[in-house]
Amino acid sequence: MRKCFVAGNWKMNGTIDESVALAKGVVAGLTGSEKADVAVCPPFLAIPAVRDVLAGTAVRLGAQDVFYEGNGAFTGEISTDMLRDAGVSFALVGHSERRHVIGETDAIVRRKLDALIAAGMDVILCVGEKIEEREAGKTEAVLDTQTRAGLTGLTREQLAKVTIAYEPVWAIGTGKVATTEQAQAAHKFIRDLVASMFDQAAADALRIQYGGSVKADNAAELMAQPDVDGALVGGAALKADSFLGIIAGAR
Ligand code: 13P
Repeated sequence: MRKCFVAGNWKMNGTIDESVALAKGVVAGLTGSEKADVAVCPPFLAIPAVRDVLAGTAVRLGAQDVFYEGNGAFTGEISTDMLRDAGVSFALVGHSERRHVIGETDAIVRRKLDALIAAGMDVILCVGEKIEEREAGKTEAVLDTQTRAGLTGLTREQLAKVTIAYEPVWAIGTGKVATTEQAQAAHKFIRDLVASMFDQAAADALRIQYGGSVKADNAAELMAQPDVDGALVGGAALKADSFLGIIAGAR
């Protein structure tokens, strides 16, 4: 398996022109010999313009979220049809900011995941514990609940559409990266859980990305862990150079 999938989640940042410039910077900086699959998740409004920049390149275009219903009376939402029409091939679901700022539940996250899979799209399912949960020794319980809620009942073919991003909430945007031991332990816990829910082959084929204060100077060490298959990058993806530095560190 080509293990390393680096996705840049630009979150709610930048003008359309700035997104285009950032995408151009990423494309221009790739040599073609990267050992990572690369994707970017611009804000919705910048997606069509970024699609044009990425056309003919290997960089994939993702969305930061999606709504779970088909087109209809859902004011303000974006459907899988709309994303596909705009050239998007995957979306994040359950990002910690959606769970903990917007208030999305596991049930909502699951409906979004199901909608993407039904539309033939790929999914990055984000899971991760808050600091108080880690300090209370509940990290594995949180990961168990979120992972089971996201994956229970999927077929193996459907599971193959899913990447998991382990993003400890306390590491997101804080500069406080998980230690390699913390990241590896959480990723192994998730992979073993998926093996118990499906089988070992399905678990081995599952990509599990780490997210939370990934930077060029800590990425290589994190991605060298046996169960860390890539990175979901926020802040450091807002400058092409630092994102390219993370990609260059992928082995
Ligand atoms: P930071 O890289 O800014 O910590 O954000 C991580 C993240 O939330 C990626 O989705």
